[in-house]
Amino acid sequence: MIDTIVWQKQELKQAAQTLKAGGLVAFPTETVYGLGADARSTEAVASIFAAKGRPSDNPLIVHLASRSQLSELMGPCSRLAEELMERFWPGPLTIVLPVKPGSLSPLVTAGLPTVGVRIPDHPIALELLRLADVPVAAPSANRSGRPSPTLASHVLEDLGGRMHGVIDGGATGVGLESTVVELEGDRAIRVLRPGGVTIEALKRAFPGIAVISDSEDGLAQPEQPRSPGMKYTHYAPKGELTVVEGARESVAAHINGLAAAARQEGLTTGVLAFSEQAGEYKADLVLELGSESRLEEAARLLYAHLRAFDEAGIARIWAEGCEPNGLGGALMNRMRKAAGGRVLRLETPDK
Ligand code: TXA
Ligand code: MG
Repeated sequence: MIDTIVWQKQELKQAAQTLKAGGLVAFPTETVYGLGADARSTEAVASIFAAKGRPSDNPLIVHLASRSQLSELMGPCSRLAEELMERFWPGPLTIVLPVKPGSLSPLVTAGLPTVGVRIPDHPIALELLRLADVPVAAPSANRSGRPSPTLASHVLEDLGGRMHGVIDGGATGVGLESTVVELEGDRAIRVLRPGGVTIEALKRAFPGIAVISDSEDGLAQPEQPRSPGMKYTHYAPKGELTVVEGARESVAAHINGLAAAARQEGLTTGVLAFSEQAGEYKADLVLELGSESRLEEAARLLYAHLRAFDEAGIARIWAEGCEPNGLGGALMNRMRKAAGGRVLRLETPDK
């Protein structure tokens, strides 16, 4: 057990010192909280995997304060990589690029010849990275398999006693992890994990370039996943979650039927619903994701709500699906993964 410190934002120097000295420091970013360590130190990086209970074949994202640090990690970047950085950094976009051998602990890349890098768009993260002045490997600061943390209290819940400290920066912004992309020369951008930078935003920014998404819903599992993290069950609440997609009226009726049956069996029930329909549901705990017309709010709330169902000890949870467009793409990817693939698609009645 380590005595975990909670730093306030005035105490970034102490946190940066701890990072530099090989410690484990959780910090807020614009996406979710990250669990950071000096990416060059194998001992420090090994302690990230140990604290999270993370499989060692799942590589970590490296966080930088500025593009000038890139030259330590890699040779000159392609034109497309440069343009992506110019357009989306700082921000929720992780770019997978060839790494200079020996520049990072081999644990960071899990033996791959590439590294995922990003510059986060959060004042605390940026200041911490600037003060520490080392590349910082940071996965989401949750125990492996738990929902990613969007509050310092979530980090403490999962990792208290397993890390040196957490910087409390309040709620994170986007609420879902960064978009991870890989480049195919200067011709194509392959989205390995949808996130805060939407596929539509990538297409708008680069009209002449193909934007490829491995799978529409994040469930298709290629034999050899390009992004090793995508093969693991993620973000799972303790209760059994099912996503229900289809016309709104049929979704509400169907979920209410299933919830009634579950209650008959003595199970506690929960529903995750958009505000438009939330009033329709009969369950022990109904949590709202905000309006379906403003998915930013749903993205910010999703993980906290999944944790709230756990706290309430809910055994069966149903979530309303939404259109997988824009931020809805990332939201549905995470919901379907949290559900471990339990997705019900209701037939739309003939018009
Ligand atoms: O928003 C985020 O990205 C947060 C914050 C803390 O920055 N971090 C985060 O890290 O979500 P993590 O470790 O939970 O997810 C990293 C993802 C995994 O799916 C991993 O497989 C993928 O990025 N990844 C990392 N390096 C890669 C590489 N070299 N090639 C392919 N995928 C990579
Ligand atoms: Mg994660």
